[in-house]
Amino acid sequence: MVIINTIADTRESILWAKQQGKKVVLIPTMGFLHDGHLSMVKAARRQDNGDKEILVVMSIFVNPLQFGPNEDYEKYPRDLTRDASLAEEAGVDLLFAPSVKEMYPAGGSLTAVQVSRITEVLCGASRPGHFEGVATVVTKLFNIVQPHEAYFGQKDYQQVAVIRQMVKDLNMPITIRSFPTVRESDGLALSSRNAYLSSEERQQAPILYRALQEASARITGGEISPDRIKAAIKQRISEESNGKIDYVEIYRADDLSEVEQITVSIVIALAVHFGTTRLIDNIIVEV
Ligand code: PAJ
Repeated sequence: MVIINTIADTRESILWAKQQGKKVVLIPTMGFLHDGHLSMVKAARRQDNGDKEILVVMSIFVNPLQFGPNEDYEKYPRDLTRDASLAEEAGVDLLFAPSVKEMYPAGGSLTAVQVSRITEVLCGASRPGHFEGVATVVTKLFNIVQPHEAYFGQKDYQQVAVIRQMVKDLNMPITIRSFPTVRESDGLALSSRNAYLSSEERQQAPILYRALQEASARITGGEISPDRIKAAIKQRISEESNGKIDYVEIYRADDLSEVEQITVSIVIALAVHFGTTRLIDNIIVEV
């Protein structure tokens, strides 16, 4: 595995690989890697059996543009040495780890990519400017790496929807693939932010996925009211933890539009604060 910090060297290395006929897969991350990130590396590596050899590119960049002024940009966990060995072990070929100066030489970006409507709900409503920061940095990464495919996790369901919409609207020649959420054995979705949890918060956090699973079972059992489902989830979380609910919402799974009755496939998404740590999770219920 090579570790590259500059855009110019990354471009050169990728151009060379493409000239060898390789297919380029990009996995964008903010580092502090866990099995959620690494499961996508392994999925990319499994494609090696196909007719084209794969160049697996991972980016690690904690993107200041997608953090709000009172969010955790400064304290976001970072450990490039540990990340580099995990990435190499999982099968990354090229690790692109630029500095903030390399990505934003002028301190920021005068140009932004804004996706409307689907960014106005869920995390987009709670974190103004967040998805503009994500869409802008992902566009930059796409332009730098020019991958054939890019991989994203369903754990950030709205993020995948935003990226798919952006790629479609702006005719970016990249196939977006999404991968299931990897969880701890007690159901807690893996997240770099889990490192912030106190032991008590860590013990309580699995209630998020349990409440989502119970809701899913109720829907499968015939419940069609989004309001009753949302109320039941909120009640479970409040009873079983000290978590402070940011949102519990239900939208159509395909386009994140409103649902009056659960007669189509939906996503139930939630965000809950445990102390200063904000956790998100979601479940898809096929109807
Ligand atoms: P980050 O939170 O590091 O996540 C990188 C990728 O890993 C995202 O596609 C995310 O959905 C996926 N991921 C995170 N936890 C996962 C889990 N438990 N199971 C499966 N996949 C998981 O998301 C970002 O970084 C940034 O917003 C980024 C896209 C890199 C832009 O800055």
